[in-house]
Amino acid sequence: MKAAAMERQLITEADFEKFREYFYRKTGIQFDSGKRYFVDKRLVERIEATGSDNFRDYFIKLRFEASGQEMQALVNCMTVNETYFFRENYQFDCMVNHMLDELTQTKRPGSRIRIWSIPSSTGEEPYSIAIYLLERWAKIDQYDVEILSSDIDTTVLDAAQRAIYSPRSVANLPKPYLQKYFKAQLDGDFRLSRDIVDAVEFSRVNLSDPMDTRRFRDIDLIFCRNLLIYFDDLSRRVAAEAMFDALRPGGFVCLGHSESMSRISSLFNIRRFPDAMVYQKPLEEKR
Ligand SMILES: C[S@@+](CC[C@H](N)C(=O)[O-])C[C@H]1O[C@@H](n2cnc3c(N)ncnc32)[C@H](O)[C@@H]1O
Repeated sequence: MKAAAMERQLITEADFEKFREYFYRKTGIQFDSGKRYFVDKRLVERIEATGSDNFRDYFIKLRFEASGQEMQALVNCMTVNETYFFRENYQFDCMVNHMLDELTQTKRPGSRIRIWSIPSSTGEEPYSIAIYLLERWAKIDQYDVEILSSDIDTTVLDAAQRAIYSPRSVANLPKPYLQKYFKAQLDGDFRLSRDIVDAVEFSRVNLSDPMDTRRFRDIDLIFCRNLLIYFDDLSRRVAAEAMFDALRPGGFVCLGHSESMSRISSLFNIRRFPDAMVYQKPLEEKR
């Protein structure tokens, strides 16, 4: 290997520590030393893609670039975007069987219900919510439902809007829904119908950045699944507070099955419904 190429590939322990601390501050995502190989590989890719001489050169560009473009490219390659349709669907059952009925007790027909899926990754989660509402919630025509959907990664948001999915991604969907809402493509993928795509509003949001989350208010129901596992307790607390502020009193939060608010926030009440355990913002504010 030529000397210049070798220098580009060399990321020292001290570089890793510096990067890890910086990336954590920007995104809330915590890389432990077990993730060293994953991080190094992607850093080398970005060092090469930007024509930087070495880590030091790249790190200066990253921090001082006014447009934030390189930071976004880096975030896009560092995130883990695993998702699929009807993942952990006991929570969608809980939504249509219990949470929405409770939420609509204090709403007049015709009024708005706001649901926020964050992180949405490539869209399978918010689109599953839309399909569930159409298929399994009898009152869907009586309310004006808004589905908002956000992620920090702009590549996945673009993919969500293209809405073309692999067989693996739709494997959990009941067959009648696959036939009704998707069109099989010649290459074996499935294209989601435009009506469902248009029912969801996508935006880039960093859940660790209060400047990004402050425009989300009066939300009735938040799905925040399989994100807090990448955070430490401090960024989990920031995320919990952002969700608390975004919700209306009585609003609900669904977390992933291995995630919990117990160590990080006492702001929410635990609600145990027959389908799922969820978190609720109290009707009377606690803080
Ligand atoms: C494993 S996916 C979860 C997707 C979906 N909620 C699910 O459960 O199937 C995690 C997503 O979190 C996003 N993410 C990571 N850090 C984030 C942050 N600070 N704010 C918003 N999204 C973030 C990643 O880009 C990735 O798409």
